[in-house]
Amino acid sequence: MDAHDQPAARPLCVLKFGGSVLTAKADYAEAGAEAYRHVRAGETVIIIVSALQGETDALFAEAEAAGAGACPATTARLVRLGEFRSAALMGLELARLGVRARVLDPHEIALEADGDPLDADLVRLDRARLHAALSDVEAIVLPGFTAGHARHGAVTLGRGGTDLTAVFFAAQAGARRVRLIKDVDGVYTDDPARDPSARRYDRLDHDAALKASRGLIQPKAIEAARAAGLEIEIAAMGAGHATRIAPGPAVIGAPVRTRPLRVALLGCGAVGSGVLDHLLARPDLFALNPVLVRRPERRAGDVRAAFTADPDTALADSPDLVIEAMGGVDQPTELMLKALAGGAHVVTANKAALAQRYDALLTGARNARRRLQYAASVGGGVVILEALERLKPCGVVAIEGVMNGTGNFILSRLGAGAEFDDAVAEAQRLGFAEADPSADVDGHDAADKLSLLIREAFGKTVEPDAIAKQSLREASPERLAQAAARGEVFKQVGCCALNADGSVEASVRVMSVPASHPLAGAVNEENRFVVTLADGSVHALYGKGAGRWPTAAAVFADVMDIVRACACDAPERAALAASA
Ligand code: NDP
Ligand code: HSE
Repeated sequence: MDAHDQPAARPLCVLKFGGSVLTAKADYAEAGAEAYRHVRAGETVIIIVSALQGETDALFAEAEAAGAGACPATTARLVRLGEFRSAALMGLELARLGVRARVLDPHEIALEADGDPLDADLVRLDRARLHAALSDVEAIVLPGFTAGHARHGAVTLGRGGTDLTAVFFAAQAGARRVRLIKDVDGVYTDDPARDPSARRYDRLDHDAALKASRGLIQPKAIEAARAAGLEIEIAAMGAGHATRIAPGPAVIGAPVRTRPLRVALLGCGAVGSGVLDHLLARPDLFALNPVLVRRPERRAGDVRAAFTADPDTALADSPDLVIEAMGGVDQPTELMLKALAGGAHVVTANKAALAQRYDALLTGARNARRRLQYAASVGGGVVILEALERLKPCGVVAIEGVMNGTGNFILSRLGAGAEFDDAVAEAQRLGFAEADPSADVDGHDAADKLSLLIREAFGKTVEPDAIAKQSLREASPERLAQAAARGEVFKQVGCCALNADGSVEASVRVMSVPASHPLAGAVNEENRFVVTLADGSVHALYGKGAGRWPTAAAVFADVMDIVRACACDAPERAALAASA
């Protein structure tokens, strides 16, 4: 079986995060969200990072104080350290989100440079090792700015050298895009901070970019892209638009709307609290209403936002976007329908409301001509709904999965000898479980998700109530021990299959599977999905299926889709292309 979602066939994308956007440790969360956006678009991402802002300067000053002039090669060894730290921090952020990622040092793929130890040029890497590293992950992270060197051992690539690393990787790996993420949304006719009338280029050629970018992009990187016939994108974090550096006449882009969207956040628990952090990191994009919670009196110490128990206050001032993260069925459905009817787009992680009120919610969105997005509702951070969207045209015939993180966590803990009730309590404490954990334990949550998967994959309606369910309590300590003795593990498995006559079979079972089964390796809150297509091919996806950060990342990715769609819809986005 193809072990993953066709890693070899996934297009590659190189993202570079420079010091202008990595200004503090908190910025890795946003960079992680940006990387996740590409993962959910089906790309494997090569992430190249600079040091945190100011760190390279500090290292140069340290080297200077220690007599750097005498030994540039040793200076290079010191000043590159910021990038190594940054790559590790980025890797930790991706792990927190549940993105399957690996951090590599340059020597692990034999990345080599030539020339001046403080201004070297990249010359080669071991492509076979790079592709092997990419084969079973969604992302790899590498420090930019530095490489190995035959004589000096390790060198750096000059100021802005991380741009060069990114372009070099894109060319070597055959990436379909290389996107340099900056603190501006492209190359402008003049510095927009100095001249507010400066206009952004949609496209300009390499020569014009060398002149116009004025230190924004390392010139060596532009030359390397030209030599490789590679297009570079210069973009801001989360933006849909970019300046493309490519041959051809320069094109000035239309202004993009910058008014922050008014957002109502309903719920601030395990998921909502993570979403709140993402929203607060972008005051340029979001203006926040008081956040709906049940008990605002318990929020005195939380200074991030105003809190209210009154839905009307939370939904005041005609929000552009409503994010529902409160859980339950009737009240959230009512609030989402009200929000849609009032003209708001809606993002939700609530599979219970979606599965049980699907037609009403979809009709509400359709009638209001607003978006209803729910990527987090199945799989948490695992991009199963997005993958199904891509796989559907090939004819999905079956899906099998571990689709409840709490259930899998409980089984993992039971396997390690924990008591059932202690395992449930731990899942609650970690923010995996539903408000009523019997939804997890008795298979209702998995059935809600299965019902949504069936709609997505087969376009059929199977209500959650119609899906047979077994309770986790059937996995008694005795049965677990017997399974372990046979080399098997217990899993809560949701299955659905499309029959030749168009009918659908679906169930949530608690069963033991052999250790070699693709679902057997799911540990703790992990989710795994195995999708079978009509041609017999099998596609597997896995990652963190529950928990604050993976789920908030999926919700926020939906939110950012809407931000980009709203920017495109803005009236001022009338065609303004002009030759520069
Ligand atoms: P929590 O119970 O942690 O948080 C729920 C939040 O909503 C709390 O802030 C709560 O207020 C508020 N709330 C609930 N009911 C009401 C109400 N009637 N009126 C006002 N406020 C209310 O839930 P989660 O964050 O874990 O889950 C939220 C949603 O996300 C659910 O639909 C869940 O199924 C889904 N989800 C959860 C995942 C997870 O890993 N936790 C993963 C994927 C989806 P207060 O704080 O005052 O109690
Ligand atoms: N309670 C759910 C689970 C949350 O554990 O899978 C994620 O949908």
